[in-house]
Amino acid sequence: MGLTAELLTGIQEIDEQHETLFEILDKLQGVVKGGDNWSVVYFALNELSHFARTHFVVEEALMRLHGYPELEQHIAEHRAFSAHLAQLEEQAVRQDVSLTIIQLIQRWLVEHIGVSDKSYVACLRTMPVLR
Ligand SMILES: [Fe+2]
Ligand SMILES: [Fe+2]
Repeated sequence: MGLTAELLTGIQEIDEQHETLFEILDKLQGVVKGGDNWSVVYFALNELSHFARTHFVVEEALMRLHGYPELEQHIAEHRAFSAHLAQLEEQAVRQDVSLTIIQLIQRWLVEHIGVSDKSYVACLRTMPVLR
């Protein structure tokens, strides 16, 4: 599962960041599958949550700049995801992270980009700044 054509938003910076998120997730999946040491898994998770946070800040700034009407709902989705990752990071210190959890994260990302990110981009496209 990665950045398929239907997940592209057409905003280069955003698409590149989504690509990076999937790359980090691939790496995370690899280390979990490989049964690597917990610290390797922990650092991959840490990288994912840091990069996700940076990406969310960029999107939120973009939506705020354009006065996107569903900003609050979108931010809530980002926050819930970040909170989930933070919790997982903490757990990774004590117990093995399962592949199922990594797949759930992937599914969330695909769903979020495919539905929520695509809607804000579509909305922003109707506004003057991005024309
Ligand atoms: Fe996004
Ligand atoms: Fe988003």
